[in-house]
Amino acid sequence: MCGIVGYIGKKPAFPILLSGLKRLEYRGYDSFGFFISDKEKPFLFKKIGKISGFKQNFPNPSGEIGIAHTRWATTGQVTDVNAHPHFDCKKEIFLVHNGIIENYQFLKEKLIKEGHKFSSETDTEVLCHLIEKYFEGNLEEAVRKALREVKGAYGIAVVSKKDPEKIVVAKFSSPLLLGIGQEEFLVASDPAAVIAHTRQVINLDDNEIAVIKPDNFFILKEKPLETIEWKVEEAEKKGYPHFMLKEIMEQPESIENTLKGRLLTNEGMAKLGGLELIHDKLRKIKRLNIIACGTARHAALVGEYMLEEYAGIPTKVDSASEFRYRKPILDKDTAAIFVSQSGETADSLAALKEVKQKGILSLGIVNVVGSSIARETDAGVYLRVGPEIAVASTKATTSQIATLALLTLFLGRQKEMALVMGQRIARELAKIPELVKKILETDSQIKELSQKYKTFNNFMYIGRKYDYPTAREGAHKIKEIAYVHAEGCRGGELKHCELALIDEDFPTVAICPSNSVYEKMISNIEEIKARNGIVIAVATEGNEEIKNLADDVIYIPKTLEMLTPILSLIPLQLFAYHVGVLRGYNVDKPRNLAKSVTVE
Ligand code: G6P
Repeated sequence: MCGIVGYIGKKPAFPILLSGLKRLEYRGYDSFGFFISDKEKPFLFKKIGKISGFKQNFPNPSGEIGIAHTRWATTGQVTDVNAHPHFDCKKEIFLVHNGIIENYQFLKEKLIKEGHKFSSETDTEVLCHLIEKYFEGNLEEAVRKALREVKGAYGIAVVSKKDPEKIVVAKFSSPLLLGIGQEEFLVASDPAAVIAHTRQVINLDDNEIAVIKPDNFFILKEKPLETIEWKVEEAEKKGYPHFMLKEIMEQPESIENTLKGRLLTNEGMAKLGGLELIHDKLRKIKRLNIIACGTARHAALVGEYMLEEYAGIPTKVDSASEFRYRKPILDKDTAAIFVSQSGETADSLAALKEVKQKGILSLGIVNVVGSSIARETDAGVYLRVGPEIAVASTKATTSQIATLALLTLFLGRQKEMALVMGQRIARELAKIPELVKKILETDSQIKELSQKYKTFNNFMYIGRKYDYPTAREGAHKIKEIAYVHAEGCRGGELKHCELALIDEDFPTVAICPSNSVYEKMISNIEEIKARNGIVIAVATEGNEEIKNLADDVIYIPKTLEMLTPILSLIPLQLFAYHVGVLRGYNVDKPRNLAKSVTVE
């Protein structure tokens, strides 16, 4: 989620690192930093904000070895101190890190007992102290020993004053590549940062450690050289034509990040560090009010079903824009949950103000660390999906639902949810990233369907129970990026109004996985077919019967009913994306809409 660049060669490292970081900044990071290794004058600089917005003149360090980082905060607030590079007690080892160290609290406590002094709140700093602990003159050896104690994800670049003239890099579950130039080497988390210098790269594999020196490099095993074919702008999108598609495709990884370290499968529980401090208050909560806008509100609606069915807590979802102007009935037994990707949406912030004025406990489910909602709520859970650039939210949405499922476990198990039920939910949640990956593999089929349906100007989306919010979100997506009129409707409400719209020019996307309301959905599909309506069904793999009824079928794998929306949303995101592109629109920046709506 963060960006790393390192350089070693015969040129001053600083300008190369600076331009490399700027190439990564398109993703919207919150702080940056450098360490330039120079015998005379080592240079360490860390600052919050964007490099592009940094007005002060940088000094001009001359060292030819350096590491740099642009941070997307996950553990620890956005401060100068928490920015990378981090260092050990003696300020001899400097390190940049991309990823999450899951067992950092345990390691930190142990290292503190052993006498190490920490200066930041980050998980990353434990790596510096662990390397310091094992350092006996050879940096790669110390890195190897330190990493044996670490759980989580990392791409790291490390330098040491005591073993100079080298950068040691290592990776597990976070991307890292070496750029092989003429008498110079780079290391980066993203090809965008090296492409101006070389196209020859080696992608490191998990558990590999590499050492790069001014004149050579070695990895623990031989690796083939690859050539990057992308242009600089394409590299920023990792080769995808749009950020939206990149973000849709990132979902197996982003959901995995949301769940990482939070699922206690044996205990059938969720570990939500951000809620621990208010644990006692939460136990007393009898009602929940979830407040959100736009797509985040659809994720909240899924949460409403989950929290009521599995945690037994009466839950109400509000549009933030309505909340302030109606008379919400809130008492001390109610907690308000704010769901927001940006954490800056003006209506949500205004509603939060209202909630705080009434002295109600407030929680945030937010992506952007240190954003206003994250700061102003009493406690919260971060999504950890990294920057979302496309205006239409995709990867944040599925992780909002996954987080609400974690919250359901967390609250449910403190109330009446049985251990076996908790274990079942935890086990099924852990499988979700793999199932999402499987659905993404059917993209070419969804693209073909989009081609077939791209000229229709009206769509109906229907679903019941957990997939009613999915229907709303499917309609929302195609409206916002393909400018096609769509209605998102409860299957059971169809006959009270929307059925009147149906004819052969008004296709319906019916979300009908095999679950407790499947038969009811089939009746709704029959109602539509009886009016000459066209039906595209989103159904569970293995359901052959649906082919006799629907005109087209998109299959999704089986999971628990409460988790189905995470899966059923994926084809709807892809369908909207392809229809938007086929209609010739800039899907990343839909007309009249903004990513972060900071006005009421
Ligand atoms: C805007 C965006 C939507 C987003 C909504 C809420 O309308 O275009 O994609 O769902 O704001 O934003 P938030 O950052 O609070 O989730």
